[in-house]
Amino acid sequence: MSSVAELKKQLKDLNLEYAKIKDLPKEERAAFGQKIKQQKQALEQQIIEAEAKAEEVAVEALDITAPCDVNGEMPQFLSADHGSRHPLMTELDRVIGIYQSMGFDIMESRQLDDEFHMFDSLNFAKGHPARDGYDTFRTEEGFIPPAHTSTMQHRVLKAYKHKLDEGSAIAVAVPGRVYRNEDVDATHEHTFYQCEGVYVSKDCTLGNMLAILREFFEKYYGQKLNIKTQPGYFPFTEPSLEFLIEKPKSLGGKGDGWLEMLGCGMIHPNVLKMAGIDPTEYQGFAWGGGIDRLVMLRYGLSDVRNFEAAKLDFLKEF
Ligand code: DAH
Repeated sequence: MSSVAELKKQLKDLNLEYAKIKDLPKEERAAFGQKIKQQKQALEQQIIEAEAKAEEVAVEALDITAPCDVNGEMPQFLSADHGSRHPLMTELDRVIGIYQSMGFDIMESRQLDDEFHMFDSLNFAKGHPARDGYDTFRTEEGFIPPAHTSTMQHRVLKAYKHKLDEGSAIAVAVPGRVYRNEDVDATHEHTFYQCEGVYVSKDCTLGNMLAILREFFEKYYGQKLNIKTQPGYFPFTEPSLEFLIEKPKSLGGKGDGWLEMLGCGMIHPNVLKMAGIDPTEYQGFAWGGGIDRLVMLRYGLSDVRNFEAAKLDFLKEF
């Protein structure tokens, strides 16, 4: 029996064939149309049967510990027709949409970065112990898969500096995948997602930042929230804060729990200076937090490992 792909190709060809009807003499059109219609119906029936059959064929389990033979045959995967978007990608779109509705531009972070963007441009002093706090992976050449989306701050500031010269503000959100070399458990993954926010203008304040964050979280969870901050430490912000929300009752809260959602603060003058922005003229704030955690609270999930585990029964719930 022909494969689903072959049958679909035949159906496509048939549709192209049908388009020729307009070039035929009028008296031949009805018979031609009738013939193609019958062939199409037969093909469509075959496609339904072939799809059902393909689903029955058990997919052989992959041995993920086996060395990869790049010249070997492609492994058999589940039919892509039956897949769906990963829940984190759907939620990431939601996050991006909210920031866009608030006037933020979006810049995607990268998957491989360097010492300068990970540390130096963020005011981590050379040899400072805070550099060890990020559990960074490194390639043999010294490249760093980013441990946070803050690696993009320097690039955002440089790329959008012209906005300040034009008399407006820098407002950019940066979603991205990040990596940390830490032990994996129900609340820690080596690979996860973060979103960074960067805002710079002549006179913005921490109060503006808190208003933006409140707005973001209330839009994401679709309800009013209680928020608070507590002191934190990041070399790239001064002062530095941790931003918390009170777990709402509708999301399983019992009026007892504050959840730390992100780190934030006023951008350190050195970070602005390094990007060529005069800190005596401009000031800014920035924040960054995990997407996985955000989504887990929304859906009442308790194990972050499910996001990366390719478990079909978990993914099918979305
Ligand atoms: N990058 C920090 C982290 O992953 C979070 C963070 C803190 C981001 C303060 C910021 C910030 O932009 O200003 O732990």
